[in-house]
Amino acid sequence: MISALVTASKFLSVLSSFITIGALLTLAFLILDKEGKLSTSGSKIKSIISYSALAWFVSSVLNILFTLANILGQSVTSVLDLTVLQSFVFQISLGQYLLFQALIALFVAITSRALTSSGYTAVLLLISLLAISAPVFQSHSASSGSHALAIGSLLIHVLGLSFWVGGVIAIALLNEEDRKVSLPRFSHLALWSAIAVVISGVINASVRLNFAAAWSTSYAYVVILKVVITAVLLFFGYKHRSYLAAKPSVNWRAMTRLISVEAAIMIFVTALGSWLSSNQPPVRGSQEPFNAALAITGIEMPDAPTFTRILFAYDPDVFMIGLLVLAVALYIKGVVVLTRRGDKWPVGRTISFALGISAIDFATSGGLGVYAHFAFSWHMVSHMVLGMIAPIGIVLGAPITLALRTLPQSRDGQELGLRGLLIKGLHSRYARIITNPVAALAIFDGSLFALYFTSLFSGMMQSHQGHLFMGIHFILAGILFFYVIVGVDPNPRKVPHIVRIVILFAAMSIHAFFSVALMSTSTLIDGGYFESLQRPWSSDLLADQQAGGAIGWAMGEIPILIALVATFIQWMRDDSRETKRIDRNTARMAALGQPDELAQYNLYLSNLSKKDREANQ
Ligand code: HEM
Repeated sequence: MISALVTASKFLSVLSSFITIGALLTLAFLILDKEGKLSTSGSKIKSIISYSALAWFVSSVLNILFTLANILGQSVTSVLDLTVLQSFVFQISLGQYLLFQALIALFVAITSRALTSSGYTAVLLLISLLAISAPVFQSHSASSGSHALAIGSLLIHVLGLSFWVGGVIAIALLNEEDRKVSLPRFSHLALWSAIAVVISGVINASVRLNFAAAWSTSYAYVVILKVVITAVLLFFGYKHRSYLAAKPSVNWRAMTRLISVEAAIMIFVTALGSWLSSNQPPVRGSQEPFNAALAITGIEMPDAPTFTRILFAYDPDVFMIGLLVLAVALYIKGVVVLTRRGDKWPVGRTISFALGISAIDFATSGGLGVYAHFAFSWHMVSHMVLGMIAPIGIVLGAPITLALRTLPQSRDGQELGLRGLLIKGLHSRYARIITNPVAALAIFDGSLFALYFTSLFSGMMQSHQGHLFMGIHFILAGILFFYVIVGVDPNPRKVPHIVRIVILFAAMSIHAFFSVALMSTSTLIDGGYFESLQRPWSSDLLADQQAGGAIGWAMGEIPILIALVATFIQWMRDDSRETKRIDRNTARMAALGQPDELAQYNLYLSNLSKKDREANQ
């Protein structure tokens, strides 16, 4: 009985979260706005958001109660005891993540009524996506082997579904006028999301059904049923696109019928998915002996690192791969749009971007990423690649310039659209704050001390989400820093070259100070994490930690040095460009028989001193 309640509340929570996200997506990006302000037709969607978010909150709270009762094997009334409940939601990770989700749902429900701009709607959308991701880290994916495969694929599955299912339901609820405007844009997004849902669903299922006996369980039958129904949904998607392609004589009536049936089928498949996620997946008959490395990291302990092993080891971190594939696909799409338009895009930028992306993959799923789980020294190499080498490649790939040149323009000449939103973001107060070189340096180097000289590092190494968060933080902090210092993309503030050089020298010294401090540590900073893995090689953990400090120093200074040389070159180029401009101007003025800039300035100074003399007389 309790397990049925867990499934039912999970289903309601998942469904209402999808509707909330789909409606936020529609409001922020699909219907028309007026220069970023929400139009009056947005008021219906706002009330959909607030009601669905309220339902999301209530069902999430019920899900917390039923899940706790199920875990303890007690009745629902007995878990209403405040002490029991408090210890679940404040001390146990699963409870914490479920509570986080419920609180975000409440926040969205309360604030959505006051939404006035598409920018703020986009922020609420982002927060909601974080909220639905949180419980995935504590789902039963987290307890199976291959964490990075199971958790990563489920994360992509859930995020993709929220756009696809949520978007279809939100569009089904729109009025005819808004539906006509929103559908063409949604159709592209739905295609990408459906591909992500299918690939991630198949990967996740293959992790659980990887032994013969698993295929005769009800879990497997439900997965097969989902695959069949998904094929029907894909056919519906194909019909949508062909209706839309019949522009301008689109059959809107048939389209509306199709969307309603599609939404109903999706709700049914969501119920099947919720059943899967709240019931135990098949387990192998014979239990394998406990393996510490596998239980903690989700990966078998690799042999001692060698050059070949580092180069060829690979354990796919599916979520990170998903993000990288998305970034590459968007970049390629941008270059294709430019080329079709007859514009040129420097091939060096594309190569630089590709190298940055490959470096991230090597340091997360490749050999560096694998060994980073098992030894501090390799963790440091991976950190340096993610934070200092890959970002230079990404930044020199000029992704913002590419986006500004290729993002779709406003559909009616009034709406802000994606491109307008990006420009607004670049000119916002927040962008000006974080692109201040001192702020960028503080985030970039300050996080080294915050992570390694507090208990943060030991806490984060213990979990997959901690690893993921660290990796994403290193990459973003590095991208911000190098964007401000050597970036070729438009920057909200113009940083003088001399300031960039001072900042680079400061980064160099802070880095050296950090590394020396790490090299002279006499205690382990990992809170017992590496010891718990029972690593058979390189068993002197302190020596390995100190080697990590030395590696951080050696590897960290090189990119800064390269950035320093690049900044000097940019400075000299700018100076010679400026000299040429002045020379050209002087020649032009001479040809017109007028004084040049220098002569004008001298004249201005002599006039000033003449005035001073006259005033003193
Ligand atoms: C090729 C098609 C698909 C496959 C192979 C697939 C497979 C899976 C698997 C293996 C899970 C993990 C369950 C667990 O945690 O044990 C899952 C979760 C889920 N799936 Fe699918 N799925 C597919 C398509 C869909 C579609 C089309 C929908 C909805 C329209 C859907 C909705 C869900 C939901 C709601 C969950 C639960 C997510 C959560 O834990 O919060 N799936 N799916």
